[in-house]
Amino acid sequence: MNHVSSITPVDPALVERRAAALPRYTSYPTANHFSAAIGPADYRRWLGELAEGTALSLYLHIPFCDSLCWYCACSTKATRQYAPVERYLDALDVEMATVASLLPRRHAVRHIHWGGGSPDILKPEDIHHLGASLHRRFQIDKAAEFAVEVDPRLMTPEKANALADIGVNRISVGVQDFDPAVQAAIGRMQDYEVTKGAIEMFRDRGVRSVNLDLVYGLPHQTEQTLRATIDRVLSLAPDRIAVFGYAHLPQRVANQKLIDEAALPGTVERFAMARLLAQLLERAGYLALGLDHFARPDDTLAGGSLHRNFQGYTTDRTETLIGLGASAIGRLPQGYVQNAVAAHDYEARVAEGLATARGRVLTDDDRARAFAIERLMCDFELSLTEVAYRFGEAGRAVREIAAAIVHENEDCFVEPLADRLRLTPRGRPFVRNVCARFDAYLNPQGGARHSLSV
Ligand SMILES: C[S@@+](CC[C@H](N)C(=O)[O-])C[C@H]1O[C@@H](n2cnc3c(N)ncnc32)[C@H](O)[C@@H]1O
Ligand code: SF4
Repeated sequence: MNHVSSITPVDPALVERRAAALPRYTSYPTANHFSAAIGPADYRRWLGELAEGTALSLYLHIPFCDSLCWYCACSTKATRQYAPVERYLDALDVEMATVASLLPRRHAVRHIHWGGGSPDILKPEDIHHLGASLHRRFQIDKAAEFAVEVDPRLMTPEKANALADIGVNRISVGVQDFDPAVQAAIGRMQDYEVTKGAIEMFRDRGVRSVNLDLVYGLPHQTEQTLRATIDRVLSLAPDRIAVFGYAHLPQRVANQKLIDEAALPGTVERFAMARLLAQLLERAGYLALGLDHFARPDDTLAGGSLHRNFQGYTTDRTETLIGLGASAIGRLPQGYVQNAVAAHDYEARVAEGLATARGRVLTDDDRARAFAIERLMCDFELSLTEVAYRFGEAGRAVREIAAAIVHENEDCFVEPLADRLRLTPRGRPFVRNVCARFDAYLNPQGGARHSLSV
């Protein structure tokens, strides 16, 4: 299994030199290169062209939270009133009907993901309603994976009942950190018992698969607080753990201005934190997957081939992703589409038809580079024979870049192989730097929109 080894020693000079503001490569081209040249007419045509037998993934975005965590970079809004949520759900229903009516066939849905925001802000009756709508409009496989992001502070037995009733079989629970001082510094107070209670509600209802989200690089985190947080995380026995490096972009994310920058760890400290967390989780029996995920050996994420999409690492190999809701991104064989970001804009557009505000047509060169970046982000390895086989002449740039990386072998990040690009243990934490070499659109001035690569 390829992973970022926790025993890689920290080389401060290397970290300082190579840490850079770079994309997280949840897509290629990255979303900042989508343009308004792609709109509803393109999306309508692309949906109509889907081939027979194309399986689908559905992503539904719920852009509401009870309160806004200071660190949060997600597309969401705090609301104390429920009326905006109701209005939004009406629009989501209309969008689902429109998209379903444009699909040429009853395509099988293999994966569903409700993300946000906090989908568990919905009332139990609205969870039932949205679930019923999904089942009515789409052909959902009996074995489909149905995951929902959950803010444990909002969970109630009635909501857990509703989510289990509509077929949810995986939950992803936001934790970030259990230390009270860290929680106070990020504007998110969340008692351990609340998290534990929410997870138990699901396990009691037969929803066995649990992911926890943690974040490192937050204010006031230390080796000691992280060790204590991991002890508590382990006591909850999650199947998967995502350990995200805090992306601090206050120029773009206004709520992050509330974070005390003086209390943020430096680059080398961040790097050491990531190594420590990996070490603790691996020692506890978790396998490190890709850049920032950990899974128990019996979890499907550890057993199968790894893929990357807008939610991070996944087993979802479905190539066609339908994004529903404000800001949601879809990926079709022809390219990417993204809905209007602001809820009111999205609602207005849905009333007229599709809500596509931006997108991107994929060229053959884009596809080859996207493949290279995805394989590197997932496996830390790229077979150049496979690139030649899959993409022929369109894979030429990828093969040339790979050859140049091996030839230069800057900082000993790759092994000296002719037929493949394989990152060394030293190079793996810097996989985003290597991926950036394949990014034809990377703007050297794009620092303000990307997070630190380590
Ligand atoms: C939609 S939230 C998860 C569900 C729910 N809203 C909650 O917070 O409990 C998605 C996850 O993104 C991560 N996240 C949000 N902002 C981040 C940032 N600036 N840097 C790194 N990770 C971030 C957090 O780990 C968070 O749990
Ligand atoms: S982390 Fe979750 S609960 Fe907090 S603001 Fe972001 S989406 Fe909402």
